[in-house]
Amino acid sequence: MLRLRVTVLATLLAASIGGVPSAAAAQNLDSLLARMTLEEKLGQLNLLSVGGKASPEQTALVRRGLVGGLFNVIGTENTQAVDRVATTESRLKIPLLFGLDVIHGFRTIFPIPLAEAGAFDVDLAEATARAAGREAAAAGINWTYAPMVDIAHDPRWGRIAEGSGEDPYLGSLLAAARVRGFQESILATAKHFAAYGAAEAGRDYNTADVSERTLREVYLPPFKAAVDAGVATLMSAFNDIGGVPASGNAWLTDTVLRREWKFNGMVVSDWTSVAELIPHGVAGSRAEAGQRALTAGVDMDMQSSIYVETLAPLVRDGRIPMAVVDSAVLRVLRAKARVAQLRPVAPNTVEIRALARRAARESIVLLKNEGGVLPIDRAAPAVAVIGPLADNQLDALGPWHTDGRPEDVVTVLQGIKNRVSAGTQVLYARGAGIEDTATTGFADAVATARRAKVAILVLGERHDMSGEAASRSSLGLPGVQQQLLEAVVATGTPVVLVLMNGRPLILEWAAEHVPAIVEDWFLGVESGNATAEVLFGDVNPSGRLPVTFPRAIGQIPLYYNHRNTGRPPAADKFTSKYIDVPVTPRYPFGYGLSYTTFAYRDLKIASRTTTGSRDLQAGPVRLGPTDTLSVVVTVANTGTREGTEVVQLYVRDEVASVARPVRQLKGFSRVTLKPGEARRIELRLAARDLAFYGLDMKPVVEAGTFRVFVGPNSAEGLEAVFEVHF
Ligand code: NOJ
Repeated sequence: MLRLRVTVLATLLAASIGGVPSAAAAQNLDSLLARMTLEEKLGQLNLLSVGGKASPEQTALVRRGLVGGLFNVIGTENTQAVDRVATTESRLKIPLLFGLDVIHGFRTIFPIPLAEAGAFDVDLAEATARAAGREAAAAGINWTYAPMVDIAHDPRWGRIAEGSGEDPYLGSLLAAARVRGFQESILATAKHFAAYGAAEAGRDYNTADVSERTLREVYLPPFKAAVDAGVATLMSAFNDIGGVPASGNAWLTDTVLRREWKFNGMVVSDWTSVAELIPHGVAGSRAEAGQRALTAGVDMDMQSSIYVETLAPLVRDGRIPMAVVDSAVLRVLRAKARVAQLRPVAPNTVEIRALARRAARESIVLLKNEGGVLPIDRAAPAVAVIGPLADNQLDALGPWHTDGRPEDVVTVLQGIKNRVSAGTQVLYARGAGIEDTATTGFADAVATARRAKVAILVLGERHDMSGEAASRSSLGLPGVQQQLLEAVVATGTPVVLVLMNGRPLILEWAAEHVPAIVEDWFLGVESGNATAEVLFGDVNPSGRLPVTFPRAIGQIPLYYNHRNTGRPPAADKFTSKYIDVPVTPRYPFGYGLSYTTFAYRDLKIASRTTTGSRDLQAGPVRLGPTDTLSVVVTVANTGTREGTEVVQLYVRDEVASVARPVRQLKGFSRVTLKPGEARRIELRLAARDLAFYGLDMKPVVEAGTFRVFVGPNSAEGLEAVFEVHF
């Protein structure tokens, strides 16, 4: 296992405990700071991307102490070589940070974060992040630009693939879990601070205009959760919020992050987002851009080289106080001190591969299964596997696949071959490429489907149609895939549509005409094995949608936790709806089927005081400010197979000083039940979990009537009413 050479800081920080520098260590950092020239200080704030290996020019900058960190260095030899220059040849011998976008795996690629969010499994998210951190650390990386915790309501935005979807509660739990996981071996970064997911019209890098309340209630909670989990760094976003770019926004970075949340870690800019203050129109020169970003609290300048190249004169003439520079430098040094404290664990390749299989299984969402098409009999005489993603290793990796290798991927075709009985013929036809316009392959696809008992169509997006700079204005299947689907369905052979995509797609035709739909997202290296296990019933699907699937692009943004209008949709014409499409989604948040069925009954709620005694009063359940609501429901497996249900708890504040969402997720539990088994499940909700930002923008729990829902998704379930009183 590679341990970076951290002699200087390791010695300096010998007194650090648990990654947090002690008073003695802090003093050591202060004395290091006192020995630094202004140029060396600004050098620590300079973060540069390299093309795999530091160039001679970059290495020279490192030697002069003008670089604080590098990213995109690939290979231990390359990290070691340049780190040796920093730690032995630079004057102060301060080690470098080595950053990389380790988003959903380093070498072993796990499902994309959006897919994994659908597992509703916090332990899983922590485990995959931990594994990715171990693999990355073994390659000399000490800092990942993950987790991406942006809440997103717009599937046109390609970066929706990198986050946990639309819900702040789920997003917060997963943000914290991933921070814990990564930070066993490397530093984590919660990004992109903030409201990047609110980019208008889903166009990447676009402006966002979000009220302070929505910012605080929807977009900020996962960042707060990451901070509370001890995240070492945050990355400032590209977008502006109401005209104030996030990379030069003192209110966000200083008032909220540092003063309110007491974050004492480091803030790094996004790629050239400091220089982009110029095209944003809030800085007239590079120096002005640097001054604005640094004084707003952006400590490290990624890829603009503005701090190191332009700020020294401004500091010398007093336009930027030295104290501002010193604080930023100390934060960078503290991050390095945390690196020095990490004890990365060697990755266990076999265990990590098994984890990738588990993650892929849990992420798959069964959207439709009519007429028992699924699971497929593994002894069927012939199955057809068709489509551009069926035997495609590269695209199954999804966006941001770091050091992932296509050759490590088991495709769906291979997974099916691995699983069918010896006598089953697996017939394959590509049909068309992902974005093809030609239909020349259709005849073969149709003939192949005709020869089989069932046709499995694997359709969707290229891996790079989501992720950064990958916004789409339409959300259908790209190219001629829709026609391919229709041509195969027309054969009369039952069709199972397996989707690979980094965002919700509009699936109206398929939802009406295809008997079975399986949402794979991008599952990574174990794609094919996990998919085949689900198709043949070895694994009963349990994933749920972490994001709403609209019926039409014109419904976007469409998300379950919206507020009601003064005219909720109703039969009356003059209500809030469309004249050409229902207001409801195609598939709601939290939705997903199983090969078994679950029934919910006997919902009982009770209030519990802090001493644990049950509130026995007659009449409606009443909750005091320190009480907890106990929500108990019986969930029964009413089908014939063992299955896992994600029991979801939502609340609604019926009347408040500020209009509240129609439902908000506040709890969930994955429950595995045998056929015929029924279990009482308890979920708890503390009164303080009902807080929102009141008229004065302060958190408040208001007395009054609340409704609690418990069910299989955000649109169904049993409900009960309780009162909050003071
Ligand atoms: C730009 C992306 O927005 C960000 O997420 C990423 O971490 C950086 N580039 C570095 O690759």
